Amino acid sequence: MRLGVFGDIHNNYEALTACYDFFMANGCDKVACTGDIVGYCASPKECISFMQEKEIPSVKGNHDYYTTQHHHKWAIQPYAAIVIKWMQDTLDPKDIEWLDNLPFTMEIEGIQFVHASLETPDGSCWPYILNTQTAIFHFFMQSTQFCFYGHTHIPLLFTKNRGQIIYELLTSRRLPKSGNAKYLINPGSVGQPRDFNSRASVVIMDTETHDIEMHRVDYDIPKAQQKIIDAKLPRELAERLSSGR
Ligand SMILES: [Fe+2]
Repeated sequence: MRLGVFGDIHNNYEALTACYDFFMANGCDKVACTGDIVGYCASPKECISFMQEKEIPSVKGNHDYYTTQHHHKWAIQPYAAIVIKWMQDTLDPKDIEWLDNLPFTMEIEGIQFVHASLETPDGSCWPYILNTQTAIFHFFMQSTQFCFYGHTHIPLLFTKNRGQIIYELLTSRRLPKSGNAKYLINPGSVGQPRDFNSRASVVIMDTETHDIEMHRVDYDIPKAQQKIIDAKLPRELAERLSSGR
C-alpha cells in the first residue's frame, strides 16, 4: 500500500487540498493524518468537512483538543489562543464534537500514529520530540516498527537501534524490512511549516517495500494569508506562512 501521511494542517484549506491532490496524483491508496487539523489559519470548517468527506483517519492534536475544551486557560501563545477562542465561537457544535471524537492514537497497517509522543497520549502533556532526550520516553511505548508523529512541524527521522537513538532531517530513503530497529517519523507540517521552507510537507510510505518519500508541495499561500487577514486573526499568522517559520 502507498500510504500518504501528513499532519499539522492547521486550518490551511489551500495547503490541505493541494497535498491531498498530490497524494492522489502519486498513486496513494490511503491517506492518514498525524493531527492538528485546526488552529492558526482561517478555514476550520472547510478543513474539517474535507477530512470527513475524504474519510481521512486522524489522531487528535493539541489544537484539536484545546478547541474542544471550553473555558480553559491553556499555557499557549496568545495568537494560538485567539484562534482557538474564535473557533469555539464560530464552529458548529457538531464539528467540535467531531474533533472531540478523534482518537489520541491509532494504528494503520501495523503502523502507530500519535500527535506529540506515545509517552503521554492522553492530552495531559504535549512534548516536542526534537532530540534524543525527548524521543527516549516515546520509544519506551512504541510497540511497532514504525510510528508517525507531528507537533514539531519539522520533518525528522528518529531511529532506535540496540539502545541507541539517532535523529536526522527526514529525506527520501528505503528503511530495512527486518531487524530490531524502530523508526519514528515526522512528515513535517501541511499548513504551517517551520523549517524555513514555505511549501507544504508530506510523506508517502510504501508499506511493503518500506520506501519513504519526502515531498514538498506548492499551494496558494497568498489565498490562505488573505483568509487570515479577512477573518481578523493575528496578522503574524499570515506573514509566517511565506517564510516557513
Ligand atoms: Fe501543530
